[in-house]
Order: sequence, then C-alpha cells, then structure tokens
Amino acid sequence: MKHLLTLEQLSKEELLDILNLADQLKFQKKNGIPHPILAGKTLGMIFQKSSTRTRVSFEVGMHELGGQALFLSSRDLQIGRGEPIQDTARVLSRYLDGIMIRTYAQKEVEDLAKYGSVPVINALTDYCHPCQVLADLMTIREFKGSFDGLKATFIGDGNNMANSIIVGCLRLGMKVSIASPKEYEICDHIKEFAKGYPGMFEMTNDPMVAAKDADVIFTDVWASMGQEGEKEKREKAFLGYQVNDEMMAIAHKDCMVQHCLPAHRGEEITDKVFEEHADEIFEEAENRLHAQKAVLVKLMG
Ligand code: CP
Ligand code: NVA
Repeated sequence: MKHLLTLEQLSKEELLDILNLADQLKFQKKNGIPHPILAGKTLGMIFQKSSTRTRVSFEVGMHELGGQALFLSSRDLQIGRGEPIQDTARVLSRYLDGIMIRTYAQKEVEDLAKYGSVPVINALTDYCHPCQVLADLMTIREFKGSFDGLKATFIGDGNNMANSIIVGCLRLGMKVSIASPKEYEICDHIKEFAKGYPGMFEMTNDPMVAAKDADVIFTDVWASMGQEGEKEKREKAFLGYQVNDEMMAIAHKDCMVQHCLPAHRGEEITDKVFEEHADEIFEEAENRLHAQKAVLVKLMG
C-alpha cells in the first residue's frame, strides 16, 4: 500500500493486516511498551475543514511513534491563496515523509498523491472517511470478537461516512443495510461497489427495515461540514431517521451503536441512546489513534 486515499483500494487481507497492527500498537501503548517506529519522520497535516479527533489523534500518534506532525491550516498555507495542489504536493514532498489531508473534493487528495512523491492519507473528503472507518471496524471486532455473520446498519445521509462504512463492512464479510431519505441516497459509485457483494447489501428509505436485527447501528450528522447552509432543509428531510429507543428495540438485543462524532443529540440520535452506548462510541474515538498509527507505520515505516 502506497497511499490511503479510499477504503476501496484495500483488499480484505490488507484491511485485516492494518487492524491487527492497530490492536498490537494499542496493546503496546496500554502496557507502556515504547514503539518509536517512525523516529525522525515528519507528517504534514493539511486541514481545509475543522477537526478535533483527527488532528489530535494524528499528532499524538506521530509523537508516540517517535516522529513529529506539523499542523498546516489551509488558511495559512499558500493553497488558501490559490497555489495549485500540484505544486504544493511537489514542494511538501521534499520536506515531509508523509502528508495527511482533510478537504472537500476527493480529486484534491488524488492529485496530491499523483504529483507528490510521499505517502498521502485521506483524513476525510466529501466522498469518504477511511481513517474513521478503520477505527470503527477495530471497535466492532473489539466488542464482538469477529465480523462473521454480523449485520451493520447505517441510518441517515448517504455521505462520506456511509460510503466508507459500506465498503469496509462489506469487505470484511458483514451484511450492510442503509436507510436514507430518497434524495439523500448514496452515490452510484458505492452502489456499483455493493453490487460486488450480492445478497449482502440492502438499501431502503425505511429506517426500521434497515435496523431490524442489526448488530451494529451507525449514524452521522444530517448536515456535514460544508453543508451548513442546507441545515433547515435537511432537518425536515431527515425527520424519522433517528437512532432512538424504538429503533434499538427492533435491533439485535446486544446491538452496538457507533457514531464518528461530533454528534447532534436530539437529531440523528437521542441523548438516551447515545449515553447508553457511550462506552462503545468513545472507544471508537480512542481507536482513531491506534488505527491511524497502524496506517502511518504501514505507509511511512
Ligand atoms: N470523527 C472525526 O473525524 O472527528 P473530527 O472532525 O473531530 O476530526
Ligand atoms: N459527515 C461528517 C463527518 C464528520 C467527521 C462531515 O463530513 O462533516
């Protein structure tokens, strides 16, 4: 693996390889075993959107691996004043050992990888969020023991999270069901991907159909970063697409809940369900650190 641009690029074996390394790095950290695998290496982190978890977990992760991370806000970089990504990629590649980027268009991430000469990590685009879903998969295995026979459900917008969840869960052999309002369904590209898993994927406009017998329910905000102007329209469209007691009652009795965060309580999830599943949700947030360290080691080690 040269870059992490999408989850589609990873085979089942490569995914499991990352998750196994993530488990090992988590064990080492918990037991105080140093692991300076990236000593002397520098990761540049370009942010065109806000972040709490991604920024802090990558920065701490590089530190724990013996390297360092540079926070590069696009507001301060010349990118913000129009310097092309092709030039930025070639310049940064001469200083850095890897580049992490959070931005809008997936093409920007692909261009960074194309024109640069160091590994590039996608830390969220409008299209996907592979780092988050690696952490989610790690958390599911931690709580459930394996992926075999599990049903994963996504309730809400057919967005970046939905896309990566569908890809990651199908790849690892889980059944996936997604419920979105008609005008917010997943893109054709992900529909095509899911066709490669006949009998394993279901798309519906009925959240209760999707949630039935689920082993893991995922949800995400109704309006993502960059969609703030559509907030009111989306609040109307997504009414009924809420993870609440009624929904949890038709899921499997040990059903987990995963949320990438930040969460909007009272919208996509009730405060009660959120708090009842807080252990799983905050373990998921913690696992960002371990899963990303595994990615950094695979790409930059
Ligand atoms: N889940 C996630 O990516 O969080 P941040 O936006 O805080 O980085
Ligand atoms: N779908 C959300 C995920 C945030 C981590 C967004 O893009 O804003």
